[in-house]
Amino acid sequence: MGHLAIIGGSGFANMAGLEINASYAVETDYGRPSAQLIQGRLAGRELVFLPRHGTEHGIAPHQINYRANIQALHNAGVEQIVALAAVGGIAEDCAPLTLCVPDQLIDYTHGRDNSFHDLDGAAVTHIDFSFPYSASLRIQLLEAAQGVSLAIRDGGTYGVTQGPRLETIAEISRMQRDGCDLVGMTAMPEAALARERGIHYATLAFVVNWAAGKSEDLIGMDQINANVDHCSADIQRLLVSLASRLPSS
Ligand code: HPA
Repeated sequence: MGHLAIIGGSGFANMAGLEINASYAVETDYGRPSAQLIQGRLAGRELVFLPRHGTEHGIAPHQINYRANIQALHNAGVEQIVALAAVGGIAEDCAPLTLCVPDQLIDYTHGRDNSFHDLDGAAVTHIDFSFPYSASLRIQLLEAAQGVSLAIRDGGTYGVTQGPRLETIAEISRMQRDGCDLVGMTAMPEAALARERGIHYATLAFVVNWAAGKSEDLIGMDQINANVDHCSADIQRLLVSLASRLPSS
């Protein structure tokens, strides 16, 4: 499998443990990505890192230029993307601090530029999206977790909301009836754009709060930030384990 990129989400504007070799600003036909592309080594393997919300976490989910991000990675020769995502837990076994590699998603977003095909002038193409995540990259993530004895939920449906506000209790109830286990704001259109560019894509989700109405408490940013911090060491271990399984570069 080819060149790996990690897209960092909330709490991952930098990647601890990444030996940075270079960072470079790029421009694409779709505009500028969220930040400079960071080229570095993790466990001795070359990879590219891109913080989805920018280096200062200043770009909200609905403002991200997803097309520029995916195009920039594609232009850099990236063939597989691990997308980190802080999410809310809907299913009973998705309590805060749970790690999960979802296998399905439902898109509730609107108004985002969600295809490359409206600019490149090519004939209308309908990508197959029955399985939105790469089966092989999902397995690599699950094996990497197993390799460092980390518990991880194999599969689940990630419901992608527009944000930036969190959901109402009624919205979460509806999403649960729809079959969502997790709720987040960034997997779409990111996953579909990666598929359009032929890039393997999988999400490594980490639960940072119970979704609205799933606990007695309202959701606070302090709690979310504290749980992001709690998860970060495990995620870093998992990513080192993943990188160390790649062929040496
Ligand atoms: N809803 C949507 N996105 C999120 C949440 C949530 O509860 N937590 C973290 N990202």
